[in-house]
Amino acid sequence: MHIGERSAFSLTRFGNWPVVIPVFDGHYKENGFFQVMSLFGLIVVVCTIECNEAAGSTQMEIDWAIASHRLLRFLHPLLNRRLQRLNDVQNREDDQMRDRRIELREAGYRFETDRPDFINSNVVANNVVFPPVDGIHSVSVADLAEGEARSVKLGDRAYVVRRKSDALELWPGVCPHEGAAIKEGDLRGSTIKCPWHGLEFGPRRLVAGGSSVTVCGARVQIVDGLLTMQSAQAAGSQP
Ligand code: FES
Repeated sequence: MHIGERSAFSLTRFGNWPVVIPVFDGHYKENGFFQVMSLFGLIVVVCTIECNEAAGSTQMEIDWAIASHRLLRFLHPLLNRRLQRLNDVQNREDDQMRDRRIELREAGYRFETDRPDFINSNVVANNVVFPPVDGIHSVSVADLAEGEARSVKLGDRAYVVRRKSDALELWPGVCPHEGAAIKEGDLRGSTIKCPWHGLEFGPRRLVAGGSSVTVCGARVQIVDGLLTMQSAQAAGSQP
């Protein structure tokens, strides 16, 4: 749980015991971060993280130091192994997000916490800033059978669309949380479940001749039988 921008309480497990750890975050240079954690007020862990982008992926350099009274030093190797495991788990989750950010930035996306790439998969707010929509884009889904779902592109935007009776159901193809690619295979009945952290979305519903819907700043409607998208602002609706 974050308290302000720089401090948080982290809930973790030590063996079978839940442990709440106060954490303080900060920057020491453009691509360098530090974290200071206190364990029961008896042991302090100082962690430095440096991230660099190269060859389309993000490389992280992570170091930490453990400090305590000398009588508690026997705990350091145990704590060190525990931190190593926690770090491995977090990086497994965050690596795919960092690499996906590089891909999405190239397509014009930005992120609310874009500094530059130290991220933590347990931040719950929606983080993706969708790029502006230029022009009007259309695609035909006339061949979509009843109940069939498909991923489609409208300009640079991806969507999942499914035919349901006389309507089309529509979901964004990029998750607004951290940008996971969402595909028709992620459908679970009437909702889509994001493959990364499990956010679930209900569909927006479109009918021929009906009103438009606004999805992530883009206005989508059926025009002359085609699924059609334009900027929500240009179309005069609210994002
Ligand atoms: S990217 Fe986190 S829930 Fe979709």
